[in-house]
Amino acid sequence: MSGSDGVPTAGTAGEPTAGTAGEPTSAGLSAEPAGVRILPVTGLPEFRPGDDLAAAIAAAAPWITDGDVLLVTSKVVSKVEGRLVPSPTDPDERDALRRALIDEETVRLVAQVGRTKIVENRLGIVAAAAGVDASNVHADEIAVLPTDPDASAARLRAEFARRGRDVGVIVTDTQGRAWRMGVTDVAIGAAGVVVLADHRGTVDAFGNELVVTQVAIGDELAAAGDLVKGKLDAVPVAVARGLGTLLEPSPGAPPSARTPGAPPSARINFPGAHEPAGFGTEVTQVDDFSRADDVDPRHQGGAKVLIRPREEDLFRLGTDLSIAQGRREAVLLRRTVREFTGDPVDPAVLTRCVDIARTAPAPHHTDPVRFVWVREHRSALLEAMQAEWEADLASDGWPAGRIAKRTARGQVLRAATEIVIPFITGDGRHHYPDERRRLAEHTMFTVAGGAAVQALLVALAAEGLGSAWISSTIFCPTVVRSVLDLPADWEPLGAVGIGHPATTPTPRPPATGGVVMR
Ligand SMILES: Cc1cc2nc3c(=O)[nH]c(=O)nc-3n(C[C@H](O)[C@H](O)[C@H](O)COP(=O)(O)O)c2cc1C
Repeated sequence: MSGSDGVPTAGTAGEPTAGTAGEPTSAGLSAEPAGVRILPVTGLPEFRPGDDLAAAIAAAAPWITDGDVLLVTSKVVSKVEGRLVPSPTDPDERDALRRALIDEETVRLVAQVGRTKIVENRLGIVAAAAGVDASNVHADEIAVLPTDPDASAARLRAEFARRGRDVGVIVTDTQGRAWRMGVTDVAIGAAGVVVLADHRGTVDAFGNELVVTQVAIGDELAAAGDLVKGKLDAVPVAVARGLGTLLEPSPGAPPSARTPGAPPSARINFPGAHEPAGFGTEVTQVDDFSRADDVDPRHQGGAKVLIRPREEDLFRLGTDLSIAQGRREAVLLRRTVREFTGDPVDPAVLTRCVDIARTAPAPHHTDPVRFVWVREHRSALLEAMQAEWEADLASDGWPAGRIAKRTARGQVLRAATEIVIPFITGDGRHHYPDERRRLAEHTMFTVAGGAAVQALLVALAAEGLGSAWISSTIFCPTVVRSVLDLPADWEPLGAVGIGHPATTPTPRPPATGGVVMR
């Protein structure tokens, strides 16, 4: 039975009448299982700032009863709360205003494709265009999201409580989703209804412990509501019936006011002749939320719990922006790391970094840099270098105690997990008869070697590996060549200690002030 406007008429306590879910038919056939029903609230007016939304909904849907969940499109909440910004009607000017409003509502750019921005807005919601919307409003205004959708939901709920109706309220907004085509409605505000059920730690029918399962009931309800609302139908409010066990007690409401806890289920049940515009749902019981441990107490009292904390978000930045940030920060991530965890360095990663380093610029189109990865001769090399260093300090007149102290401080390479020694080979050098040009040519190849070493350090940092470029081999090239059995014209450019950093370096700010103008 229904009213002439297609709204189910009020039966006893507002329950849907003949032949609806959970009730025996007049023919006495066995009862079909109780399910969830999604009912549209039709006949609502076009809302303007200051309008009484609760009164309008209550008048349009006198059948709303205890245990119902109201699914209210945020656009009408924005309208009654005056969240409408006057807009020029000229399309370009209107678009410019829309973009300015998006920037105003934005706290963080998450992704950008062309002119479309996905942003985190001041509510913490990540959405296209920050929720700023020029649709379903007059051509001379633009809607922004309610200031506090949880508070809006709470006010609406309180208004219904004042009218003797114990309902939950969800404020919905339409969003696109990564990886999925099409938009769907989600909950951006809630009051009096559980929006996130936490099943972690519970055991499924097969005995498997559920490790990560949290069900976004608020979003599921919002999306279900959209089935009967629809942007173009001008039906901004729907009612979910049959989920009374999801409701939190209204302050002061007796527990008996709750719709009896018939197990909710989820099916789409297309409208029959006697249910003109609602979708009933049924089929499989999903949960009765009757056990205390079904619901994490933190997950009640608003829709903010549906927002994944930024630090837990694997996709907190869009692909293009991530790449751009990674490029910008790559050089700044390189720090001299002198303490390592000792965890093994993946040989493939180290080799890749060396290959990257060898793309550094070099004079005359030459390939003058080689990196010697010291494994087998590591101890012999470090001992021989230390002996040479001690001999140098002794020849400077240092006493043995002071030498021991000084060399004890210079043990970075011993602490490194791997050691790579960069060399410039003699290949490709031009030969000059005079000392000035010979020196210049030598400097040119030395700086090219430095460029390659820096490239290696940056590549390592980008892989999360730490490095320390240590000068020592420059001071004992003959010893190094001898221990490693290398040609006489290979010149070591220090040594690079490599390993997983004991503490993760963060990118530092660029060092400004180095530009000298002439
Ligand atoms: C050619 C060269 C030789 C270096 N030699 C040593 C060294 O022998 N011992 C050391 O602890 N650091 C050495 N460093 C690292 C510098 O001390 C380091 O770059 C400086 O402290 C700045 O720190 P940062 O690399 O984190 O910016 C060397 C750096 C370069 C470029």
